[in-house]
Amino acid sequence: MNREVVYPGTFDPVTNGHLDIIKRALQMFDQITVAVVDKPGKNLLFTTRERIEMLQATAGKLSNVKIERFEGLLVDYLQKRNIFVILRGLRAVSDFEYEFQIALMNRKLYSNIESVFLMPSQEYTYLSSSLIKEVVRLGGKVEGLVPGVVEEALNKKFALTK
Ligand code: COA
Repeated sequence: MNREVVYPGTFDPVTNGHLDIIKRALQMFDQITVAVVDKPGKNLLFTTRERIEMLQATAGKLSNVKIERFEGLLVDYLQKRNIFVILRGLRAVSDFEYEFQIALMNRKLYSNIESVFLMPSQEYTYLSSSLIKEVVRLGGKVEGLVPGVVEEALNKKFALTK
């Protein structure tokens, strides 16, 4: 049986925490599709194309990892692809309530769906894309927390928007 999973998110931008989750999941699944939401209900720094390019330059280099864009309901996307498992990272107890709501709503919308949660390495449990953006915007260093290409892209974005 080919075990496939979809790892959905905004990835604005991808961090080493997300990559850690993907690498862990590769030990459990044969194929991971990182699904980048096209129009999330939050303000973004990077365009969908930029977010996908950064993922392609990092996670996309790993075998059995594909990067795709999706819009609309996540469950509709899974149904079309004939995939039944959603992967999410759980960083702290504070993530639990939100993830619990999403997982149950997705199951309500499409009863065949299962959600699988993995914990990132402890060094990434406090990471979020918003924090990374704030630190770079204010001139701080994020080395070791995001891939080099992401650090460069962030520096460029904030230098341009200053
Ligand atoms: N390392 C670092 N950061 C992590 C992380 C990890 N391992 N796991 C989560 N995060 C952070 C993200 O960086 C992000 O931070 P930010 O809010 O500062 O940007 C935050 O946790 C959560 O973002 P993300 O994982 O991208 O999820 P999301 O909440 O933005 O999007 C979707 C979740 C895309 C899965 C959801 O919105 C969705 O399914 N949308 C489609 C529409 C739909 O079906 N809606 C109904 C859902 S029930």
